[in-house]
Amino acid sequence: MEGTRLLWQSATVTSVVEGMEGPALENDRTPHPFEDQLNSARVYDYLLGGKDNRAIDRGMAHQMLSRAPELKTLAWFTRSFLRTAVEMAAEAGIRQFIDLGSGIPNSPNVHEVAREIEPTARVVYVDYDPVVVAHCDALLAKSPGVAALLGDVRRPHDILDQLNDRALIDLDEPVAVMFISVLHYVMDDEHPAEITAAFRDRLAPGSYVAIAHGSSDSDPEILQVLTGTNNTSAQVAFRSTAQTETFLAGFEVFEPGVVPVQQWLRPGLPDTRMVMLGAIGRKP
Ligand SMILES: C[S@@+](CC[C@H](N)C(=O)[O-])C[C@H]1O[C@@H](n2cnc3c(N)ncnc32)[C@H](O)[C@@H]1O
Repeated sequence: MEGTRLLWQSATVTSVVEGMEGPALENDRTPHPFEDQLNSARVYDYLLGGKDNRAIDRGMAHQMLSRAPELKTLAWFTRSFLRTAVEMAAEAGIRQFIDLGSGIPNSPNVHEVAREIEPTARVVYVDYDPVVVAHCDALLAKSPGVAALLGDVRRPHDILDQLNDRALIDLDEPVAVMFISVLHYVMDDEHPAEITAAFRDRLAPGSYVAIAHGSSDSDPEILQVLTGTNNTSAQVAFRSTAQTETFLAGFEVFEPGVVPVQQWLRPGLPDTRMVMLGAIGRKP
């Protein structure tokens, strides 16, 4: 695809569903499948037109949509950005993909996009929500070379160790790592920049990273509605462009840089009051 110039350089696999390891997180908003709490994966599923959501999730989605009806469109723009990132990486010769915070499956999923370009592409879907992993397991992990893994991005080394120890991903070869709409569920005191750095340090040169992150420059009305998600798995910490850039430290960032995802797609797409920043980088 065009637009892959570098902008800057800053400093049959089986499915795996197991308990997460590592020390307890201080503010653990990890979803519990049988509790009727707001759930980010299910709110998003509703926005994308899916059926795997509950009344409480639809209620929040309706509140958000009443202030910003274009949120559904933005969700699709963000899925299209994911597609663009996967295509870019596959066209650059990458054969392994990790989709972090993968969410409830929604076609085309990463393995479907990657395999249009490279039929042997291996893909691991990772999410900390056991229900999401069960969906991925049931729908996706039947294909050889596709796996679903329960993992919390706030424990990046656990995820990397599992990928390596179970031979799901060969960390000596380039990998494309997708952080699509997941890092804004990581609070500042959970150190999101350390998460991307942990992946960067273990990835082979030539690996790709893609980030989609909610912007704090979005319409204040929407930001206000979202404070209703606090202390649930849907609690968000939207960030500025400059803060989002820190997650790309050590990666070469492709043009057009850290910009609303629409700008990665095609000219003429409408702006949205909720702004989703997108960026794609490469480890030199
Ligand atoms: C808004 S959905 C995005 C889904 C998908 N990436 C997409 O763009 O369509 C956010 C997903 O991130 C997951 N998530 C949030 N925090 C997470 C964490 N700490 N570790 C792993 N997954 C997380 C949620 O369970 C949910 O499935």
